[in-house]
Amino acid sequence: MKAICPGSFDPVTFGHLDVIERSAAMFDEVVVAVGRNMAKNGLFTPTERVEMITECTQDIPGVTATTFSGLLVDFSREQGIGVIAKGLRFGADFDYELQMAQMNGHLTGVETIFLPTSPQWSFVSSSLVREVATLSGDISALVPDAVADRVRAKLAERSG
Ligand code: PNS
Repeated sequence: MKAICPGSFDPVTFGHLDVIERSAAMFDEVVVAVGRNMAKNGLFTPTERVEMITECTQDIPGVTATTFSGLLVDFSREQGIGVIAKGLRFGADFDYELQMAQMNGHLTGVETIFLPTSPQWSFVSSSLVREVATLSGDISALVPDAVADRVRAKLAERSG
């Protein structure tokens, strides 16, 4: 059975990778899907985000990464995927994710499963990683080294 892990992934964090790895242990194939609609004004382009995810998941069997446009449910149906897998860190995630899960279920009948994020990553978000890095803080424990290097390079490119 195939599952999809959708998100913005700007950039991918250890929290995302935890959810992707645990999903891969439960499903034959996991497609990590970067939404193009929401990618405007991000730090990385959708293609760069996919490159980083691909690099960071190369040792996890059955995981691939791609971008998608339009509705997640339409993309999932085209790919023959019947399950959306999402991580939940805290209550606010649940409030937001429950509504999307129910809307997605209403649209095509796709199922959503929620995985509780491992506690060591529950405070990690891509937006805070970007903010901390922008203000010269240390993100080395929050994202893989290759991602941290690309964040620093992108910020240097932007400021210089
Ligand atoms: O990183 P996020 O904020 O969890 O990602 C949200 C994402 C990309 C999963 C969500 O915005 C999405 O599925 N967008 C695609 C457009 C869509 O299907 N919208 C209706 C959602 S009910």
